[in-house]
Amino acid sequence: MAKLLHIDASPRGERSHSKRLSARFVGHWRDAHPGDSVTYRDIGRNPIPHVTEDWIAGAFTPPGERTEAMRSALALSDELVAELLEADVIVMGVPLYNFGMPSGLKAYVDQIVRVGVTFGFDPQNRTAPYEPLVHGKRMFVVVASGDGGYGPGGPNEKHNHLDPHLRTVFGFIGVTDVTFVRAENDEFGGTALADSLAAAQREIGEIVGASK
Ligand SMILES: Cc1cc2nc3c(=O)[nH]c(=O)nc-3n(C[C@H](O)[C@H](O)[C@H](O)COP(=O)(O)O)c2cc1C
Repeated sequence: MAKLLHIDASPRGERSHSKRLSARFVGHWRDAHPGDSVTYRDIGRNPIPHVTEDWIAGAFTPPGERTEAMRSALALSDELVAELLEADVIVMGVPLYNFGMPSGLKAYVDQIVRVGVTFGFDPQNRTAPYEPLVHGKRMFVVVASGDGGYGPGGPNEKHNHLDPHLRTVFGFIGVTDVTFVRAENDEFGGTALADSLAAAQREIGEIVGASK
């Protein structure tokens, strides 16, 4: 029995392509793996707070020496990290905003990349000071965009700072098995959008169909 963590980062509801497609992914997953459990976070509609001075001080203070203010500042981060560590599979619906991730998802990332918890840091080891502490996860990211051509070899690939950023930051903590599915052309509508949505739906079916 696997545990799936489903995160949506769009503030939109019914109109969100990434949300609809991530839900489709999870729906297919449930059908294919009925025993698996799903935890859902809508960080688009329920924003994650930015880190604060108490948060930063607390993260770099050993747990037993933290003040009440530090513990309280880290409480949500502890919950989000526990959720992430428990999950075997992470499914994200993500809108492309200004060529990168929406600020709400960045706030989430800042909460879960934690020294001594999701990555190790040894300042004495100058050649390899960082060690990923998260292991054995698969991650699937459904990205929705207004324009098209952001995929490998596409005319907008060089403007796609979302995929490389997510790969880098999740790779840093040890989530290296990351697959992207793209739904493009929201701004153009018509067949350009419909074809892209249909291709994304097909791809999701194939990915889940091949999943173990
Ligand atoms: C604040 C904002 C920034 C956006 N920036 C981009 C962008 O850089 N490139 C792009 O192709 N589309 C951009 N879009 C369009 C969205 O990516 C597109 O509408 C997408 O479908 C949103 O995801 P959703 O349907 O899941 O809400 C932007 C939309 C908003 C609201």
